[in-house]
Amino acid sequence: MNRTIQHELDDITRRGLLRTTRLISGRQTARVSCNDCDVLLLCSNNYLGLADHPVLAAASIAAIEQYGTSSGASRLVSGTMDLHERLESAVASFKQSEAALVFNSGHAANTGIIPALAGRGDVVFSDRLNHASIVDGILLSGARLVRYPHNDYRALAALMEKHAKGRSLIVTDGVFSMDGDIAPLAELVELKRSYGALLMVDDAHGSGALGEQGRGSAELQGVGNDVDILMGTFGKALGSFGAYAAVSAELRSLLINRARSFIFSTSLPPAVLAASLAAVEIVQTREGDGLRDALSANTRFFRNALKNAGFKIPAGSTQIVPIVVGSAVTTMQFSEALLAEGYFAQGIRPPTVPIGTSRLRFTLMSSHTHADLVGAVDCITTIGRRLGVL
Ligand SMILES: Cc1ncc(COP(=O)(O)O)c(C=O)c1O
Repeated sequence: MNRTIQHELDDITRRGLLRTTRLISGRQTARVSCNDCDVLLLCSNNYLGLADHPVLAAASIAAIEQYGTSSGASRLVSGTMDLHERLESAVASFKQSEAALVFNSGHAANTGIIPALAGRGDVVFSDRLNHASIVDGILLSGARLVRYPHNDYRALAALMEKHAKGRSLIVTDGVFSMDGDIAPLAELVELKRSYGALLMVDDAHGSGALGEQGRGSAELQGVGNDVDILMGTFGKALGSFGAYAAVSAELRSLLINRARSFIFSTSLPPAVLAASLAAVEIVQTREGDGLRDALSANTRFFRNALKNAGFKIPAGSTQIVPIVVGSAVTTMQFSEALLAEGYFAQGIRPPTVPIGTSRLRFTLMSSHTHADLVGAVDCITTIGRRLGVL
């Protein structure tokens, strides 16, 4: 092998940061097979179990039979299908926005939308713990990046007072993907009004899972109509793949003309669009309400049980529950020891999280049973004690 590449890999390994993929067979259900062992899945974003829903599967199969397997091109070349537009109408109605635009993934959405809205001479205010795809989008835009301390809207106000000149954009995760807490959206709406900025919320982890109607963190805080760009993904609670921006009709037209990940990429295929459409419908039904209720009951139980066992869980109320371990090496030992006992929880290390804050990131699903979670908490507690995390 090329010696510089080997050297780099050795360096990553020495720092306890080597990443490898783990083979899972079967569907993303509460229990999966990993290395031929049955394990409880505690790290999937399939929060409502829709990735395994027969209605989504049937919709995908029917779409392949009717439309074939590919969209054939970028939407602006030959690829806009009625399914793209039907999905966008369904998203706009779900999110109560004037319009919506579908992207190929959350990463493609963030790296397409941000450079479409900000460029040289503009300023983007970004929460310090925002998802990597937001940071990539800002770097790609050439705009000035001003990071504010996590969820600290007072510090943001001071930074905006100093730096908000020309066009400015505030961008935040709705639910922070590695921390499980929620952005203070009402305060961010006030700030965007005071400084004439645009507000973009990436609700990849809130959409479908939070809010009475499942519209996400903005609905939860009563500010759904005040967010200029409400981005969300179909690959998590919605059990499919891809992403969207719920926006005004004017912004949708601008994104169609400026978002390079939209313009220069083959659009989502029929099977994916049809599954997403079915999911958007299901999350708005009573079945969706029931799945959200089950998810929030599981979340409450798991958070409280870990706290009662003595773990310090960062503040939050969502289905993402981290135990911050600190050391990357201990985090991975924790993850491996859990797996050996039949519990699959992924260790999260830098650069996904800041140095010194490696963690186990547990995610709950509506399909976990109470007995599953009782067993998990017992095992996490025993191993946590053994490794000195507790
Ligand atoms: C907050 C956030 N935004 C964006 C993404 C990227 O979405 P996708 O997986 O659809 O590319 C993720 C995770 O994958 C995420 O956690």
